[in-house]
Amino acid sequence: MDIGINKKDREKISAGLSHLLADSYTLYLMTHNFHWNVTGPMFNTLHLMFMTQYTEQWTALDLIAERIRALGFPAPGTYKEFVRLASIKEVDGQPKALEMVRHLVDAQEAVARTARGLLPLMDKANDQPSIDLITQRLDVHEKTAWMLRSLLEE
Ligand SMILES: [Fe+2]
Repeated sequence: MDIGINKKDREKISAGLSHLLADSYTLYLMTHNFHWNVTGPMFNTLHLMFMTQYTEQWTALDLIAERIRALGFPAPGTYKEFVRLASIKEVDGQPKALEMVRHLVDAQEAVARTARGLLPLMDKANDQPSIDLITQRLDVHEKTAWMLRSLLEE
């Protein structure tokens, strides 16, 4: 395989994207879980908002995994691997509605940090498709974090 990126760089980028996939999957599941279990006066708003978010995230998981494959490496796809690779901790129990929002702000920001941390390596390797993917994910996660953060303000 020769796409103009050496094997070492493809391997490092794939490893980084695997961390991003694990964080994205953990955030996806957290958002869907909160869609199911949210209660209180903000139920309708949050139930629908979380659905919009997890639907978008679900589509993105496929793009991240398939970029890893296009770079020539296997994509992680088990809970065991995702737990090992993720920087986001899972939330136990059923938090109150605004507590859910707080957890999601933290998780959205964590995914953004993981994504941003990959850019220098991708830039150095001249890997524009990965940079394009990361740029799109950063845009979504930073915007979603802002929207969630706004719910917590007076
Ligand atoms: Fe639903």
